[in-house]
Amino acid sequence: MSLAVSRLLLPLLAFILVLTPFTHASPEAIGPSSPLSPWLITRLWTFTPSGRPGSSPWSTLNFTISDPNTIIAGTGPQQTFTYPAHTANCSAQWSSTLSVPAWNRTINCTQHSYEFAYWSFEILYPETNGTVYDYPSASEHFDLRIRLTDTTNPGNQKYFWKQSFEGRVGLEVGGNMGGICGASGVCSWSLKDDKTPLEVRQHRTDCTGLCG
Ligand SMILES: *[C@@H]1O[C@H](CO)[C@@H](O)[C@H](O)[C@H]1NC(C)=O
Ligand SMILES: *[C@@H]1O[C@H](CO)[C@@H](O)[C@H](O)[C@H]1NC(C)=O
Ligand SMILES: *[C@@H]1O[C@H](CO)[C@@H](O)[C@H](O)[C@H]1NC(C)=O
Ligand SMILES: *[C@@H]1O[C@H](CO)[C@@H](O)[C@H](O)[C@H]1NC(C)=O
Ligand SMILES: *[C@@H]1O[C@H](CO)[C@@H](O)[C@H](O)[C@H]1NC(C)=O
Repeated sequence: MSLAVSRLLLPLLAFILVLTPFTHASPEAIGPSSPLSPWLITRLWTFTPSGRPGSSPWSTLNFTISDPNTIIAGTGPQQTFTYPAHTANCSAQWSSTLSVPAWNRTINCTQHSYEFAYWSFEILYPETNGTVYDYPSASEHFDLRIRLTDTTNPGNQKYFWKQSFEGRVGLEVGGNMGGICGASGVCSWSLKDDKTPLEVRQHRTDCTGLCG
């Protein structure tokens, strides 16, 4: 009996001991003067169709980004309000045949795991010539400018605050992206495994509440 119990307990104890340090390392809320951890793009891929008659006219860029920071928004008498660490999925579609441009459009991300986070992005001409391509391509060589506005619950008017952030990162096939173009003319590129996650250095652009 006691042998059976210790057989059960020992792995459990070992599990708890291993787990404890990680529990302590869970993100602490940071104030306005603390440095931000960069955003992380954890998945990114582009897809361009063959352009053959009858095939889909749409090109796509999809990515997932996470904000690892838990940020103090402001304080009430009983409570500290924070913007939690969270992730978002973002997607752009464009088509030259349908005159829907890829460049310089602000596109809202549609999925975010924190309800009151608003992410958007633009596909921009790359600011520097890449190492492989010296021409811009919205699927092969481009910059992403990404914006986030975190708010507290808009229903809570007394404690409604927001903070906005912006960051920019370059993407290039042969640099941080790889993939293939098939014989059909369809190309799919994605962030290379060894470049994942890709850091995006962001800075605060706007703040109400606890701003330092
Ligand atoms: C990109 O994301 C959109 C929206 O989630 C989805 O409908 C589409 O299938 C995705 N495209 C590709 C090529 O994965
Ligand atoms: C996008 O904006 C940049 C900078 O304002 C400009 O140089 C470029 O021509 C624009 N591209 C398109 C396709 O509108
Ligand atoms: C994008 O989101 C902003 C802020 O929520 C909103 O004002 C704007 O209308 C949205 N744009 C589109 C095209 O949905
Ligand atoms: C983003 O997309 C992935 C894959 O489809 C999904 O598992 C995840 O839940 C999505 N994230 C959000 C915040 O909706
Ligand atoms: C980028 O490449 C183009 C075409 O090769 C060249 O004319 C231009 O000077 C380059 N720009 C920079 C900043 O290197």
